[in-house]
Amino acid sequence: MKTVKDLIDEGVAGRRVFVRADLNVPLDGARITDDGRIRAALPTIQALARAGAKVVVAAHLGRPKGEPEPKFSLAPVATRLGELLGAPVALATDVVGDSAVSTVASLPDGAVALLENVRFEPGETSKDAAERAALADRYAALADVFVSDGFGVVHRKQASVYDIAAKLPAYAGGLVLAEVEVLRQLAGEPKRPYVVALGGSKVSDKLAVIETLLPKVDAILVGGGMCFTFLAAEGLGVGDSLLESDMIDTCKRLLAENPGKILLPADVVIADDFSAEANTQTVLVANIREGWKGLDIGPITVDRYTEVIAGAGTIFWNGPMGVFELAPFAEGTRGVAQAIVDSPAYSVVGGGDSAAAVRLLGLPEDGFSHISTGGGASLEYLEGKDLPGVAVLEG
Ligand code: 3PG
Repeated sequence: MKTVKDLIDEGVAGRRVFVRADLNVPLDGARITDDGRIRAALPTIQALARAGAKVVVAAHLGRPKGEPEPKFSLAPVATRLGELLGAPVALATDVVGDSAVSTVASLPDGAVALLENVRFEPGETSKDAAERAALADRYAALADVFVSDGFGVVHRKQASVYDIAAKLPAYAGGLVLAEVEVLRQLAGEPKRPYVVALGGSKVSDKLAVIETLLPKVDAILVGGGMCFTFLAAEGLGVGDSLLESDMIDTCKRLLAENPGKILLPADVVIADDFSAEANTQTVLVANIREGWKGLDIGPITVDRYTEVIAGAGTIFWNGPMGVFELAPFAEGTRGVAQAIVDSPAYSVVGGGDSAAAVRLLGLPEDGFSHISTGGGASLEYLEGKDLPGVAVLEG
């Protein structure tokens, strides 16, 4: 794999470099609530700009349906990127149209421009390879070389991630290299006990990774919305909590085949509404009330999970333990995250939401060995799947 360092050594001054970054940050209206992904993208962009490249950054935000939608504009991201770089970032008002062409044409050496959300173009996420390739040709016309640094999106076979690598000399950025190295270690010979904390809302998103990880890990600590399908599989009533009924049988099988390995909450925080103002109660899992929903793991569970984490050699954490964005349901995520910070184990935080939780809850980022920028990407790697955006750089 050729790297951005090789590119800089070759000499990049005056060349147009198309950098695919993952700048998919959480927003509250136009306010960025966590700029972690923008900060993670800086080293590669800065190194190229300092070496005199004309840096053309491409990124997505959210999941627009192939046409411009103001709420998914990268405008707030361009502003924040400029603040962090200490130099203005020119934002093209389209992806590959007149604005993109003229913005790139007038870009001085060492300066940075950002194209509008690549998912405003239908070809970006198209399943039709020819449609993606046609868009990749238009990206390639804007640049001389391609640098892939959006680790969070390398699991997507999309035009600016995958197809463009066939159109321009392609290089791996520093973030992609660092992330892949950490995951390679995790998938190899992790120091034992190897403990995985999994949260997030949907059990269906996590079943594949749970199946792959079970033979390799010593314990899986389950939290988040997905714990309720497991609790239902144990025969418990879960009230109005998130439940994926069609997954109950799979959860039953996993519990039966792996006795003692999958740990479930002993208590949960329930609420009569999905809101910070709701009435709440902390109850044992056998006492979840009809009409109420579980929105966080409870303190007994946090203590239990803390004990397991304290004895771990390696920890991988993906997915919040509760609705941490709302204060009454943040303590489970905070407690588990704090236990990881306090543990001497090698610890990896996998993903957008959990990484954002670390920062939004004010936990020290240096308390973790590695905070990944890729949620889906890191899970797919650990599932043993090929990451198309990485494979195409190796090929
Ligand atoms: C993410 O948020 O995990 C990445 O930016 C990928 O986004 P996507 O799931 O919409 O492809």
